[in-house]
Amino acid sequence: MTVNVKDIYLNYFKENGHVIIPSAPLIPENDPTCLFNSTGIQPLVPYLLGEKHPQGKRLCDVQKCFRLTDIDEVGDSTHHTFFEMLGNWSLGDYFKKESIKYSFDLLTKHFNIPLERLAVTVFKGNDFVDKDCDSANYWMEMGIDKDRIAYLDSDSNWWPNMTNIGPAGPDTEIFYFRSDDEIPQKFNPEDDRWVEIWNNVFMEYYHDEDGYTKLEQKNIDTGMGVERITAILEGVNDNYLSSIWIDLIKLIEDYTNLSYEDNKKNIRIVADHMKAAIMLASEGLYPSNTDQGYILRRIIRRLVRISKHINLDINKQFITDFTNIIQNKYVKYYNELENSEKIINIIFDEVIKFSKTLEKGLKEFNKICNILESQGIDKINGKTVFRLYDTYGFPPEMTEEEARNIGFDIDMEGFSKFFKEHQEKSKAGSKEKFKGGLADNSIENVKYHTATHLLHQALKDVLGDDVNQKGSNINSQRLRFDFSFGRKLTDDEKKKVENIVNEKIKEGLDVNVCEMSLDEAKKSGAIGLFTNKYGDIVKVYSIGNYSKEICGGPHVKNTSELGTFKIIKEEAVSSGVRRIKATLS
Ligand code: SER
Repeated sequence: MTVNVKDIYLNYFKENGHVIIPSAPLIPENDPTCLFNSTGIQPLVPYLLGEKHPQGKRLCDVQKCFRLTDIDEVGDSTHHTFFEMLGNWSLGDYFKKESIKYSFDLLTKHFNIPLERLAVTVFKGNDFVDKDCDSANYWMEMGIDKDRIAYLDSDSNWWPNMTNIGPAGPDTEIFYFRSDDEIPQKFNPEDDRWVEIWNNVFMEYYHDEDGYTKLEQKNIDTGMGVERITAILEGVNDNYLSSIWIDLIKLIEDYTNLSYEDNKKNIRIVADHMKAAIMLASEGLYPSNTDQGYILRRIIRRLVRISKHINLDINKQFITDFTNIIQNKYVKYYNELENSEKIINIIFDEVIKFSKTLEKGLKEFNKICNILESQGIDKINGKTVFRLYDTYGFPPEMTEEEARNIGFDIDMEGFSKFFKEHQEKSKAGSKEKFKGGLADNSIENVKYHTATHLLHQALKDVLGDDVNQKGSNINSQRLRFDFSFGRKLTDDEKKKVENIVNEKIKEGLDVNVCEMSLDEAKKSGAIGLFTNKYGDIVKVYSIGNYSKEICGGPHVKNTSELGTFKIIKEEAVSSGVRRIKATLS
């Protein structure tokens, strides 16, 4: 049985007054502090705080998510690096009663889940928030028995958690009895036959260093994982046997002549990593040695490595067939999948590169083994295994395998020691990097960052105050700035904007920074995104008297450092959003 959970969900909420919004990209456009979108709510945080969403107060979507944290779990029946979340939101509109009713209705009437298979948890209260009797009562009004309601503390029923800075609140979670055993009358959330399927968060608080305060508006944020609910509704206990995965699994079976039954773990990893790589590449991400690009590189390289265990050649035909299946399934929700040729090439080029790396590594490996053999040694020490990995990109698992083939041992423990040391060093490095809020603080990037502030203000001057930043991306060659505006800019307008920015550069304006509360910043007229990522105390950068913007920095000291500003492109990104690319020279 195939159940199209996404369409049933979106149609249901649409019929109930929600606007279906497109998924935000996996790679957040405007948040250098986080590499990937990993929940449905992440892109909507500014609107919980009161910013008006252009589509209104009732929204729903299916959001693409990517989580690297689960990568070691991939291979079991439930974990994925790429997955999708269904969500419905009320931004200061309906609250607990309606939210619970919508969830109950959808599950029992549209997904046709029998009442006796459902149970819920609600927040049991703490020092400053009362026990959530309201939610419990609404659930009982719907028909949930009181034995099927468990009251849990903030470790379970508070989202995201008690320490996170930003909007938060108690939640009520819905569980499904996933077993053929007789269903116990009393719900025990510790019993893992009960699996969580949906989380409704009552976002009415804001947390900062001083504690919790009420938000100006009461919000609803719900999240339901597509992969799990699909498997449940289709009656399978393994996500990979549901309609989401089964044709991809079959394709791998066809290419390898191996059965899924006997090779579950490796086939699942290959399927998961192929899909994730396609989704990341569809957003124009290329494998590289930094940030998101590095993650894509790791995913593809792991895919190649694991595929060898099942004798699968990740050749162009396989990538093409896999991409075509993904495209057919998902393009309706994510139109960036349209350009399959580009996606296939991104992945294939990396596979080829990695194969060459492996070849070189193998040569070096053989050289080392010959030398060791001539010295009567049959064990490769940890440092050498690490060098093969670090310098030649030759993975330790491969060294181990090759070594075994010729009767050699390897010192894996020694390798782990070197690897850990290396990891700690690079972790410290990347923390450093993200501290300032910019992905790369080279001098060129810093200049572009200051130019972006000037451009933002100049656009407001020329096109009107309604122009707002929708995204920003900087590298050492150019800035890219997305903003809300309904039409193409005329040549005259572009020239005007360019001239203003260049004037401000010539004026040699000092750039100053000041720390203040978010409230003060708003009152002072600073522009910028009022999201939680800045914390309560924010930095406001002023450029002379011309621009004032909330920002993590860093910036140049004086605009005279910037050179000449030039707009090289102006184009549409989506309806109502334009993009400018500009350079400094
Ligand atoms: N933000 C909540 C979650 O991710 C509900 O969407 O579970």
